[in-house]
Amino acid sequence: MFVLGIESSCDETAAAVVRDGKLLSCVIASQIKDHSAYGGVVPELASRKHIEAIVPVIEQALREAGAAFRDLEGIAVTRGPGLIGSLLVGLSAAKALAYALGIPFVGVNHLEAHIMASSLGEKKPNFPFAALVVSGGHTNVYSVKNYHQFALLGQTRDDAAGEALDKAAKLLDLGYPGGVVIDRMSRDGSPECFSFPRAMKDSPDFSFSGLKTSLLVMMKKRASSFTEAELPNVVASYQEAIVDVLVEKTLRAARENNLDQIVVCGGVAANSRLRTKFSEAAIREGVELFFPPMILCTDNAAMVAALGEIMLENGRSDSLDLNAVSRWPLVSLSSAKTGGAEKT
Ligand code: KG4
Ligand code: ZN
Repeated sequence: MFVLGIESSCDETAAAVVRDGKLLSCVIASQIKDHSAYGGVVPELASRKHIEAIVPVIEQALREAGAAFRDLEGIAVTRGPGLIGSLLVGLSAAKALAYALGIPFVGVNHLEAHIMASSLGEKKPNFPFAALVVSGGHTNVYSVKNYHQFALLGQTRDDAAGEALDKAAKLLDLGYPGGVVIDRMSRDGSPECFSFPRAMKDSPDFSFSGLKTSLLVMMKKRASSFTEAELPNVVASYQEAIVDVLVEKTLRAARENNLDQIVVCGGVAANSRLRTKFSEAAIREGVELFFPPMILCTDNAAMVAALGEIMLENGRSDSLDLNAVSRWPLVSLSSAKTGGAEKT
């Protein structure tokens, strides 16, 4: 099927075209420079930027795929979770196109799309597998039994891992998005130089808010004696505390649930230290590891189109009164629920 995917849940306006499981184009208009002055995403600004970018991004995705609107057989769009104003821009565009072209459209779950990004890599996992979705808004471990069939094995009780990186970078005045800056700077630092807490060691759940506080306390204590030259050691040690728990708890969840394949996806899956430590641990434990291609770790529409194509081929489509949802926990079968327990 010729499917256009649209993603606008946070600060990336993205469109992509897939055909029969093959990616033909993937266009991402990032709003990083619009939000960097604020050290984080400003929801109202994000919605406005999506409105400006959505049509040119869709047109570019079609052009790069060598396709015209009339070639499209279906449209997939992120319905949630995410910022409601941002989601509505992509959803409205998808509905308008589907109506005008007389083709079906389907609203997909952003977290499920992140997991399905692994199906666009050279090596694809087979069901069942474990999945760590780790981004700016989520840190969840799932057992993925099949399409739309998930069991939540662990989740963050407070901040997401990406959020912990972004907040640390803001605290240290390093720039935005913090995960990328900390990843780069950590390469020149020692991960053992400072000791940061690894919270809730025996729980399947994660907690990162205490980590951020311990950084704040450390910086306050050392304010007068702290030198710029120490920064790489500080961020490398901070990053290591996050990476350690992500690797350890995901592997434990896989082991306890007899899953020997692990998908690691979401923006933080682009982190070089996480990729290295996961790869080393996977070899030790004899599990197979799947990372989506680098460009498909952070938000994109290829993952939305890939999942949407499968859903449309299985006869799933939505009506034009479909609404966006800011919270949409990934529990078995993706029926939309608002106000679920899972953090978005
Ligand atoms: O998946 P994503 O684009 O958006 C959400 O759904 O949240 O993830 C964005 C998050 C941000 O917190 C960003 O700092 C983090 O992913 N991130 C990284 C890296 N690239 C992006 N964190 C660590 N290392 C990276 N290389
Ligand atoms: Zn995401």
